[in-house]
Amino acid sequence: MTVCAACGHELPEGAKFCLECGAPVAPAAAPREQRKTVTVLFCDVAGSTELGESTDPEALRALLARYFVRMKEMVERHGGTVEKFVGDAVMAVFGVPVVHEDDALRACRAAVEMRDALPELGIRGRIGVNTGEVVTGTEERLATGDAVNVAARLEQAAEPGEVLVGGETVRLVRDAVELGEERRLDLKGKSEPVAAFPLLSASGEAQRRFDTPIVGRERERRSLDDAWERVRSERGSHLFTILGAAGVGKSRLTAEFLGGVEDVSVVRGRCLSYGEGITYWPLVEVVLQLGRRPSDPRAAVAIASLLGESDEPATADEIAWAFRKLLEEASPVVCVFDDLHWAEPTFLDLVDHVVDWSRDAPILLVCIARPELLDRRSTWAGGKLNATTVLLEPLTSEETDELIERLLGDAELAKPLRARIREAAEGNPLFVEQMLAMVAESPNGDVVVPPTIQALLAARLDQLDPSERGVLERGAVEGKIFHRGGVEALAPEERDVPTTLMALVRKELVRPDRTQLLGDDAFRFRHLLIRDAAYDGLPKAARAELHERFAAWLEAHGSDLIELDEILGYHLEQAYGYRVELGLGGEETHDLAGRAAERLEAAGERALARSDVGAAIALLERARRLLPLELRPLSLELNAMRALHQSGDLDSAIAIADSMIDRGRAAGDRGAEQRGMVLRGVLVFNARSVTVEELQPVAEEAIEVFTELGDDGGLADAWSLIARAELGRLQWRAMAHAADRTLEHAERSGDPAVIREARLFAVPSRLYGPFPVEEALAFMSTSGALDAYVLSMSGQLEAMRGNFDVARQLVREGLEYAEEHGQGLLAAGISMQEEEVELSAGNAEAALAAGLKGVADLGELGERGWLSTVAGHAAEALYRLGRDDEAWQMTETADEAGAPDDVITQMLILQVRAKVLSRRGEHDEAERLGREAVAWGDPTDALAHKADSYRDLAIVLSAAGKRDEALSALAEARAFYEAKGHTVGVANVEELRAGLVASLEA
Ligand SMILES: Nc1ncnc2c1ncn2[C@@H]1O[C@H](COP(=O)(O)OP(=O)(O)OP(=O)(O)O)[C@@H](O)[C@H]1O
Ligand SMILES: [Mg+2]
Repeated sequence: MTVCAACGHELPEGAKFCLECGAPVAPAAAPREQRKTVTVLFCDVAGSTELGESTDPEALRALLARYFVRMKEMVERHGGTVEKFVGDAVMAVFGVPVVHEDDALRACRAAVEMRDALPELGIRGRIGVNTGEVVTGTEERLATGDAVNVAARLEQAAEPGEVLVGGETVRLVRDAVELGEERRLDLKGKSEPVAAFPLLSASGEAQRRFDTPIVGRERERRSLDDAWERVRSERGSHLFTILGAAGVGKSRLTAEFLGGVEDVSVVRGRCLSYGEGITYWPLVEVVLQLGRRPSDPRAAVAIASLLGESDEPATADEIAWAFRKLLEEASPVVCVFDDLHWAEPTFLDLVDHVVDWSRDAPILLVCIARPELLDRRSTWAGGKLNATTVLLEPLTSEETDELIERLLGDAELAKPLRARIREAAEGNPLFVEQMLAMVAESPNGDVVVPPTIQALLAARLDQLDPSERGVLERGAVEGKIFHRGGVEALAPEERDVPTTLMALVRKELVRPDRTQLLGDDAFRFRHLLIRDAAYDGLPKAARAELHERFAAWLEAHGSDLIELDEILGYHLEQAYGYRVELGLGGEETHDLAGRAAERLEAAGERALARSDVGAAIALLERARRLLPLELRPLSLELNAMRALHQSGDLDSAIAIADSMIDRGRAAGDRGAEQRGMVLRGVLVFNARSVTVEELQPVAEEAIEVFTELGDDGGLADAWSLIARAELGRLQWRAMAHAADRTLEHAERSGDPAVIREARLFAVPSRLYGPFPVEEALAFMSTSGALDAYVLSMSGQLEAMRGNFDVARQLVREGLEYAEEHGQGLLAAGISMQEEEVELSAGNAEAALAAGLKGVADLGELGERGWLSTVAGHAAEALYRLGRDDEAWQMTETADEAGAPDDVITQMLILQVRAKVLSRRGEHDEAERLGREAVAWGDPTDALAHKADSYRDLAIVLSAAGKRDEALSALAEARAFYEAKGHTVGVANVEELRAGLVASLEA
């Protein structure tokens, strides 16, 4: 049956106009499919077979007819809908066609009423109630979903005369009902036992707690105080309206204000969301509280009629007039009407009347309402001089923190969780309260949207007209901030989106925001939870389609967006995900995955190019998850590997390399196979004690293959492997050459992440190679990149020329940079620069601390290549501190981690061991090791490290009494330090020489 939208009169089938009021009938909109949370009630006759046996069929038929009529009545009185009769069972849904915030409680009230009425009918019944998400508006009209089945099963499990309620319902109604003991039921088709509670009574109301001290709201309270002041001094009436979203604290604010009002009558009434006789409900409450009657007999009659004490009817005008007289006589009075958004128009007229006509009587009318009030009466309080309206805004984030603090009391709550609650609640105290309560209950401490809040928001959205709702849902597809253009593209059937958007702004659901797209308008949901509620109402099939269409629109309009790839990737990924969830495979779905992966990869690549490793890994992993291994493009695997390498997750990176090699071999794709081999080489260079001898041939073969294939990307990687091999040999000029080739090919291949990596390669060669400090620093500053590498290595250079404070600062900045960008491997590796800076500065303690931390951090990551060197420097620090045994042990750590042909590691081990042996008086062995170290260094062009090895040889020789040889070793050391511009080293040599000369002369 359809009814007229204007007057509610029943319409004959196919009517174009209403026969009652003449309003045109809008064509019936196709039922919109929606996901919503509803409460389902099943009521069945217990023992109907026996009933059938013992009762005459005609009598039985009449009995059942009476039963159906009564049950339907009760369901409808509480705003539910009878969906169907199945046999003797009644299935009712609360939340269809419109969701109410208290649907669960309504269902419970109806269930109790039904249970109590059945015996009178001579029927024993069983009732089950359950809440959950269903799909409505499908062709068969029925709500479908698991929640329905569970409700039916609960009904079957109930004893005759019993109501069993499911756990989800209980969570919504707990404060307002009385329950028996929990039962755990094994229900058919459920793997886990289901919690059920016998419902005893449902006579309470959902309660709000007002016991924690109030936070903020000083201005609004002052404004209320002022209004009251004025009412008293001017002896007039005043209408004070407090508007605000559900839970923002309107009732609470009013309670605070009333707490401070003294010596006058304070009366309160609240409008009910549904029920019989609700129009004057608040008025009856107020009159009873006033405890008096108007002195005018006509007014007294009207009031008596209002209270049901007299049968004499009174018109709405008479009641309004009589109430005004009563208030005037009771004044000064503060009269509060709460929840005015549920008021009937007659009642709103009555309030108007009191405010407009009362004379010479101090009356403050405080009216509290959600912004929906203005949907019903847009002119509320308009044009009145004696009226104030305040809109209660959300609490600030400081106030929210304070509220959390107060609500927690002594309880603990982890900082991140606190932050998430603050974010999700967005200044709504009710949300804060309920989320905290949920966290306290849930064992894993997740922040989830409490079901009560969900119900509140869903109810708000269900009141919108279909086109407003449609616009909001389409906005929700884009996200918390959305654009008019996007909505228009997704809702071509909407004729006037801008006007609808303005209506939504007026309704306090969205607000204008700064646009990110030229020539478009942006809007922001007032609350993320509103966005989520709107989105959650969309069926998944619609979500899939809308995300895809939005992506298409944005592709055409969002080319200026910096994060375009990431945003498009997100929407395509969502569309794909929903299609998979719905079991929709096929070409279209595959195609979506491919497009999503492409966008996410592009976004990941860009993140990698700006060294945002954490973001890069997340994006690339999402892209990889979208595609089965055999469909993943090579570039995606390469980028993921690079990102994982930089983050320090070497094992995962190597696993990708391995799979790439296998895949390449299986497919006979030499390029892919070689690429895997080369990158595996790069990775094991860090992860294992691999020798340069092993790496070199891998790189050379790869260069051959890639040259043949003309693969510049591959060549860049292969040269980068050569560069690493040269680095292992401490051949820095050769390393610089390989780095140049890497860069050359990287630039030709055009991959920004590789280009960046290739550029960075040049940095260590300048630091350690045959380039004077000044020149190397100049190079660093022109390299243009403010990067962890450049910063920390510049620090080491500064330390060589004695600028220790600057050096430390640069190393620290480098470390911070690496940490902030998720470059875990580099962050751990910077311990090497820290050690060398502190050793140059003569602070062995600090060098040791940095070294120990570096060894631990790198060890944790499974890194070995850098670890061996860091351990070598730590051994030197221990030696300088006189902790010779520990120094020796540390050289063993270095030895274990380092490759046998890793030059710098071998040098450091030998140098420290030589000096320790020398102190122990084993001069011959000491000299042998000292010379071996020098021999490792001689063919290299690592000036400073060579100089160090000569200096250490000199120390050993001098202790052995070989002073001339010591002096000539010092001269060598000095020459290398000088060539490097290492003034600290030069000074150090000078000091040693002076000591030696002095002892010679003595
Ligand atoms: N400023 C505040 N400081 C501390 N607690 C607050 C504050 N404002 C509200 N609360 C708490 O938040 C909850 C919701 O507040 P309240 O019931 O006043 O909201 P409301 O705006 O009246 O919502 P509704 O429209 O649903 O009636 C209450 O438990 C209340 O105690
Ligand atoms: Mg309230």
